Amino acid sequence: MHTVTAIYPGSFDPVTNGHLDLVTRGAKLFDHLIVAVLRNSAKNPLFSVAERVEMLREGTGGLGNVEVATFEGLLVDFARERGAHAVLRGIRAISDYEYELQMAHMNRRLNPDVETIFLMPDAQYSYVSSRLVKEVFRAGGSVAGLVPQMVIERLQRRAELGDSPA
Ligand code: PNS
Repeated sequence: MHTVTAIYPGSFDPVTNGHLDLVTRGAKLFDHLIVAVLRNSAKNPLFSVAERVEMLREGTGGLGNVEVATFEGLLVDFARERGAHAVLRGIRAISDYEYELQMAHMNRRLNPDVETIFLMPDAQYSYVSSRLVKEVFRAGGSVAGLVPQMVIERLQRRAELGDSPA
């Protein structure tokens, strides 16, 4: 039987309800969906890779065909390793499109056997990003409804510890 495995890569620092909305949509389209956290990112993360994986596992726990993994180096190499021929990315607004198009073309050049599939999250999450969630939370604003409750608790714990990055 032909099964389609897709990879949903990202930083997920932390996972948002927009990410989880996309995972739910992807899980319906693909036989197997691997949510993959980049390990060697140049970004300065708030949460460690292990914490981000834990939050993603908790958030996607109800979906039987979803796996959470980590990868290092090129996404297309990880896709090849895992037998995935699709990469899932979310587009919230037209402003996402330019960067996403660049990445998709670069990935296609690196491995023409991998197709990038863009999905849009529910409109209620069209302005939600991990970066804004962290910014609003740090400044004392409410992020309820934008991230799962367990993420809010982790943000609170992190703030109590002085907000030191991972
Ligand atoms: O959530 P993000 O930070 O927008 O995710 C970016 C990510 C992890 C998808 C991207 O940086 C990536 O795939 N990095 C791995 C390195 C790679 O393959 N680069 C070439 C693709 S342009």
